[in-house]
Amino acid sequence: MSSAVTVSLRMASHFRPFFHITVFLLCFTMGRSHISCRNEADEPVDWFIIYKLPKFKIGEVGSGVDYMYLDSAGGGWQRSTFMVNTTQGGALVNTLNQLYKGKAYMSNSSVYALYNDGAPELKYIHTYGHSKGVLLFDRSQGFWLSHSIPHFPSFPERGYQYPSSGKRNGQTALCMTYPYAQFLSIAQQLAFVYPRFYNCSVPSAFSADLPQLVQLCKGSKLPLTSDRGVKPLFSLSGDKFVSFMKSELFVDDIYNAWVAQALDTDLLVETWQRQGRELPSNCSLQKHTMNIKRIQLPPSVQFESRYDHSKWCVSPVDRVTCLGDLNRVKAQMLRAGGLICSYNPVIYKAFRKAVNWYISC
Ligand SMILES: *[C@@H]1O[C@H](CO)[C@@H](O)[C@H](O)[C@H]1NC(C)=O
Ligand SMILES: *[C@@H]1O[C@H](CO)[C@@H](O)[C@H](O)[C@H]1NC(C)=O
Ligand SMILES: *[C@@H]1O[C@H](CO)[C@@H](O)[C@H](O)[C@H]1NC(C)=O
Ligand SMILES: *[C@@H]1O[C@H](CO)[C@@H](O)[C@H](O)[C@H]1NC(C)=O
Repeated sequence: MSSAVTVSLRMASHFRPFFHITVFLLCFTMGRSHISCRNEADEPVDWFIIYKLPKFKIGEVGSGVDYMYLDSAGGGWQRSTFMVNTTQGGALVNTLNQLYKGKAYMSNSSVYALYNDGAPELKYIHTYGHSKGVLLFDRSQGFWLSHSIPHFPSFPERGYQYPSSGKRNGQTALCMTYPYAQFLSIAQQLAFVYPRFYNCSVPSAFSADLPQLVQLCKGSKLPLTSDRGVKPLFSLSGDKFVSFMKSELFVDDIYNAWVAQALDTDLLVETWQRQGRELPSNCSLQKHTMNIKRIQLPPSVQFESRYDHSKWCVSPVDRVTCLGDLNRVKAQMLRAGGLICSYNPVIYKAFRKAVNWYISC
């Protein structure tokens, strides 16, 4: 890419119109044509995480639409200058506008899927996995957004809308940019969860590569050879994420009974635990699982877990962070869902520091 720029710059004095065309084409191909997670400034980014703050913080009632932002460019949590419900800007709307504004949903050269157990505008159905997300990619690359927001995102023809049901509680969203080949692995993983694909399109040109996605998009449940699956995924810039997904046939707490033991680490877990339904901190297995009760984000925002619909965990010392689908409550032992884990030090530092108080055992 840089050699093309050098060549056209050298030629610029003689061929000015050509130079302008070359620069225009370079900007176009670099900036716009590749489907990707997009940052707060609408530029492509390898991954980003949003922590939407709850309305009820300790000592403060907020708007319910402000959020913290973190991405692969490094640094730590940044307070976003955007509200999560505005169409004016922000990483979520920038990323999803590739579907809404780009009209990718009418294209037969890209695949998309919107899934959510609590689909917008539709009745809740318990038979699907407890999982929420978006896939959008073409033959070169695209993004996977995994989040905790009920009734989100809106149907493609509606344009970007943030639901009022997602305002009161804290929410997280993790966006990852992947090369095309990784979407087969993601689809195989999603088969364990059987998410509710409420709107999707897998054009026929993709069906040979992605048979699982074709079935899920049709609403069909796939036959499984195991009750759970784990797969490493490599983002566009080679960052490793590990996907753990369980079906409803694995009837136990995903954090304690599986992921903590599989990663061989204790876990501090932040999930939405409504009173009387929670699974307590549990130290009966080799590796322990402990419930976080209070979160702290910079500069000095604090809130209680009961106002946080996020689902994530972090190890006390082993430098792993996971974000995902399931709460540590009894009923969700019976639900399908997953976690996406990372050893990225930027993610680890941001989440480990966010643990303000947890219940040890
Ligand atoms: C976003 O939500 C806030 C708080 O509920 C509200 O005051 C504002 O009007 C909303 N903005 C848009 C564009 O919906
Ligand atoms: C894609 O869509 C265009 C226009 O809608 C159509 O002409 C073309 O045949 C389609 N290609 C495939 C592979 O389906
Ligand atoms: C997506 O939603 C629109 C209407 O909201 C509909 O026209 C389209 O058929 C839907 N696609 C699928 C696969 O459900
Ligand atoms: C601790 O977790 C294990 C594995 O999930 C489970 O069998 C056990 O009943 C749990 N103990 C308590 C007190 O919840």
